Amino acid sequence: MNPPDAEARALARTFLEQTLSAEGNALMLEHATREEVVRGLAAGRSPARADAGTRRGPAVTEPMIAEAPELEALSALVASCSRCTLHESRKNPVFGEGAADARVVCVGEAPGAREDDTGRPFVGRAGGLLDRLLLSIGLPRKSVYICNVLKSRPPRNRDPLPEEVAACSPYLLRQLALIEPEVIIAFGAFAARTLLETKSALGRLRGAVHRYSGYPVVVTYHPAALLRNPGWIRPTWEDLQIVRRMLDGVEAGIGDREARLG
Ligand code: URA
Repeated sequence: MNPPDAEARALARTFLEQTLSAEGNALMLEHATREEVVRGLAAGRSPARADAGTRRGPAVTEPMIAEAPELEALSALVASCSRCTLHESRKNPVFGEGAADARVVCVGEAPGAREDDTGRPFVGRAGGLLDRLLLSIGLPRKSVYICNVLKSRPPRNRDPLPEEVAACSPYLLRQLALIEPEVIIAFGAFAARTLLETKSALGRLRGAVHRYSGYPVVVTYHPAALLRNPGWIRPTWEDLQIVRRMLDGVEAGIGDREARLG
């Protein structure tokens, strides 16, 4: 028998913790029954990965990503990507969506359950709030481009691992190079810290215009955090005002696009 892999062990641990907390009465795992957990441990792989082999495509290399001629071709690479293990547990890749010539690119952390089900970014409750926040600065969802640092859902919404970020970042870089936005909005500490390569707290990063690969970046709270802390909606709106002023040409940072495009 193969030793159980890390994912199967984590699933089993969660199962046991939940069973204990429910005094042996309930199983609340999102995607696995008790039998599947046991089968996964016995087979040395997690239940979600049972069909992993059939979904693996040819290796996608960084030069292939960097040379993708347009967003559609890049999206096809994501669909066949096996640069990290998340393709084994995801239901759908979540490449991103929106206007290919958007002035604003919104970057979140990673797809959640609803996004994994539909293959579209920010379609759950947090997505609804994101749409309203964007509208509050005159940006209908369709006018911007929305994506995440990771293109696949981490199992049980766990934090992305550094190797997953490293494997997926070339896609984000290429998305930005193809779209050439005037402003990037990093929603939440994870997106902000990843783009800006810093460990600083979100609070220290807000209120300024930063850079990612030459593009101006404005940092604000993640809509999911706003659902838990409505008091942060006002500060978020204030951050988004920086974006509005940049788009209106009355805040520094935006002129760089012309410089970049020559
Ligand atoms: N949270 C994110 O960071 N991205 C999504 O697409 C959905 C929720």
